[in-house]
Amino acid sequence: MASVSLSGVHKRFGDTHVVRGVDLDIADGEFLVLVGSSGCGKSTLLRMLAGLEQPSSGSIAIGGRVVNDVAPRDRDIAMVFQSYALYPHMTVRENMGFGLKVRGAAAPEIDAAVADAARVLDIVHLLDRKPKEMSGGQRQRVAMGRALVRKPKVFLFDEPLSNLDASLRGQMRVELKRLHAKLGVTTVYVTHDQVEAMTLADRIALLDKGVVQQVGTPAELYDWPANRFTARFLGSPGMNFVEAELRDGRVFAPGVDVPVVAELLAEGTTDGPVWIGVRPHDLRLEVGGAAGAIEAEVDVLEPMGWETHAHLRVGDARWTARFDAADAASLTPRGRVRCSVAPRSARLFARDDERALYRAPGPT
Ligand SMILES: Nc1ncnc2c1ncn2[C@@H]1O[C@H](COP(=O)(O)OP(=O)(O)OP(=O)(O)O)[C@@H](O)[C@H]1O
Ligand SMILES: [Mg+2]
Repeated sequence: MASVSLSGVHKRFGDTHVVRGVDLDIADGEFLVLVGSSGCGKSTLLRMLAGLEQPSSGSIAIGGRVVNDVAPRDRDIAMVFQSYALYPHMTVRENMGFGLKVRGAAAPEIDAAVADAARVLDIVHLLDRKPKEMSGGQRQRVAMGRALVRKPKVFLFDEPLSNLDASLRGQMRVELKRLHAKLGVTTVYVTHDQVEAMTLADRIALLDKGVVQQVGTPAELYDWPANRFTARFLGSPGMNFVEAELRDGRVFAPGVDVPVVAELLAEGTTDGPVWIGVRPHDLRLEVGGAAGAIEAEVDVLEPMGWETHAHLRVGDARWTARFDAADAASLTPRGRVRCSVAPRSARLFARDDERALYRAPGPT
């Protein structure tokens, strides 16, 4: 196993500056998810780790050794792509053993490695099939098997589940997690799917336009986003925002009046324009006419059975709230609602550069 470290990594394709100064230290055995929207440079970063692409500047180290000039096959990595890229004329056994075979491994060694990987992935019964005789999920498992037999120090995954249907994706997510717990191989996993990022990662690195926005555990990014971009990216339905005014220890906007939690406020924060952000599940419906911190008009109600998603208008902004189904039963479209929000669960962001103005409380 090995740590992975990127330092000052840039990548330009002609005039396009795709990766713009990435520093990232991935610990031995860690499962790091690189997440971001389409075109933000995830695959390019991963391909540089694999050696399929050269950084324009900066250095990449695997296991403490700078590998900028090391060929892909000598980096001790194995990559799994979205397209499984299995050889159609070969059986599963041959597909899985092929990488070792071209490296000149002896037949008994290949057989043993394939048998091992097949057991781990629960595909022993598929070993004599050809790719076309299997489902997408089974093929994806074979593609992982092909990576496993190499016993790499680092696994690189590029959207490995995005060709699968939703339920299979969920199932494979759990299997990937189990596999990582069992093998403990350092893993860098690229996805644009925030659910995969949240559920799989030890730590997430969120990328936007080639720049890392925040690195941390899923809980750190979800609970204490460093900026409004991170706050928006994670969570579904997403965090609600409205332009507001910070004044005398309170945050005001049309229909909004929430006290500031002084000890969470970043140093140097002054009164003035801010964004306030509230997650849909942090809005509580106030029944019985108690004065609420958020006053809104109901637009559309979406009953889910176990809860109701209420689409609201807060001033000019559109918000979503997740209410208890029973509480929401009395709501009607175009009616008014009052909600409360615990001041500690609201988030504040600067209006100019959108950085977080609330910081995670230190360890207590
Ligand atoms: N070989 C190349 N030549 C020129 N531009 C490239 C090349 N490879 C990638 N790019 C550009 O670099 C940017 C980042 O591409 P990349 O494939 O890394 O994005 P991504 O985050 O993986 O996106 P997706 O989620 O769609 O896979 C894109 O704008 C892409 O067009
Ligand atoms: Mg990509």
